[in-house]
Amino acid sequence: MLAFRRRIAIANWKMYLGAAECIRAARAIRSGAGRVASRDVDIVLCPPSPSLAPVKEALGSTRVSVGAQDVHAELSGPYTGDVSVLQLRGMVRYVIVGHSERRERYGETDELVAQKVRRVVAAGLSPIVCVGETAEERGDGDTIAVVRRQVETVLHGVSALSLARCVVAYEPRWAISQGPGRPAPQPEPGDPAEVIRLIRKIASDHAGRRYAERLRVIYGGSVDAKTCCAFVREPGVDGALVGGASTKPSEFLAIVRAIATCRS
Ligand code: PGA
Repeated sequence: MLAFRRRIAIANWKMYLGAAECIRAARAIRSGAGRVASRDVDIVLCPPSPSLAPVKEALGSTRVSVGAQDVHAELSGPYTGDVSVLQLRGMVRYVIVGHSERRERYGETDELVAQKVRRVVAAGLSPIVCVGETAEERGDGDTIAVVRRQVETVLHGVSALSLARCVVAYEPRWAISQGPGRPAPQPEPGDPAEVIRLIRKIASDHAGRRYAERLRVIYGGSVDAKTCCAFVREPGVDGALVGGASTKPSEFLAIVRAIATCRS
């Protein structure tokens, strides 16, 4: 029998919103979430670090969870500006790891991402692991090889049992916007779905089908309320990691609704 996977809608607010805006958005999403079938979908808000605590407070005891946008690979030490899982524990439930902006702009390697994932899992938190190829890698026909390498490296240190707690976001790097007003091209919805099936197959080879069926794998390229349905309707796609569009509560709530209801 196949495992039931709850769908998931993740808002990555990147470095877009100030503290007051984060609180306002969290409150709006909190009050709208009940009306958009939050029972059918997990909702996660990932604000910039200084807003983690206020957003958690604004959400109160709702089902909407808080996530961090990154974490350091070490537990403690002289790492100015960084935070460790020890400091995030109790504050967040999810941590985004290996986002393409971190891989690209901060030179994060597969090994570093894998190390962070191990820390997050060991701390009892859920990693949202981002993988995906660059435009150049895609042009060279290397998408499958790149994603396979990224996923295999990350899964190496993750036990079969922990897979149920992990989320993998397939985000083709060329399909992520460069900021407001700078949209990215989008693939045909069937293309990411195919890579997402491959990711689950890799997880299955690693941990066995029974455990791999519990791993949630989502689409992480740009989506908005209009385009989301086409991606999450594809078989095997468990939700979306949303950047720019998630900063507008009504838009994000429409995306949550699409994730809850659009099925093949
Ligand atoms: P975007 O970001 O929706 O702003 O393109 C997506 C992402 O970073 O995963």
